[in-house]
Amino acid sequence: MQRIIITLDGYSSCGKSTLARQLANELNYVFIDSGAMYRAITLYFLRQHVDRNSAKAIHEALGEITLDFRYNPHNCQSDIFLNDENAEALIRDMLVSENVSEVAALKEVREFAVAQQQKMGEKKGLVMDGRDIGTTVFPQAELKIFVTADPAVRVARRFKELFERNPNITIEEVKRNLEMRDYIDSNREFSPLRKADDAVILDNTNLTKEEQLTIALEWAREKQSN
Ligand code: DC
Repeated sequence: MQRIIITLDGYSSCGKSTLARQLANELNYVFIDSGAMYRAITLYFLRQHVDRNSAKAIHEALGEITLDFRYNPHNCQSDIFLNDENAEALIRDMLVSENVSEVAALKEVREFAVAQQQKMGEKKGLVMDGRDIGTTVFPQAELKIFVTADPAVRVARRFKELFERNPNITIEEVKRNLEMRDYIDSNREFSPLRKADDAVILDNTNLTKEEQLTIALEWAREKQSN
């Protein structure tokens, strides 16, 4: 069985990270949520009031950022650390969600994150989810999955997740945020979200988590034995 790289790309809140994490668990691979990296950078930019129109300010800010993923034995997942601070919960905040697509569209931010992501794939045995993983980060990946789901289903799933942490959140707010992020992520100049030509589509609108895992695992095992 060869160790491979599996990429999962798609719109916001279509279950990519859940599937990527489950796949990595089953295969004993490393899982990386690349969106968490853009969120942590955004959190830093917000805290430090970084001027996004100044190339110099962006460059300096990125020079001050160290990101790493550390295993959390309480939930058996990896948490993202921003300059040694566990930022996993902070980066899911609505303010970060509202700003992350704009920060992630900055060329220098992308170069900073992509270089680190590519390093993580050097030993293979990796599942990474995001927007440009199959197109830009690992165009040579053995298995590329493009995950989609009906927009209304995505809004409902995201609302449920956020409502547990913030009961004041409204469906409308969540819908607006998803639509805005989808638009910016798909229309930005540098590595916009798009399906890689050789990616397989997984529409999970009517699939349970178990069903989508079964499908993806079958694809993965086939590629591993090639
Ligand atoms: O997957 P997520 O919703 O946590 O991602 C947050 C944002 O980061 C998303 O709006 C787009 C951006 N992103 C990106 O541009 N490229 C990636 N590989 C992953 C995320």
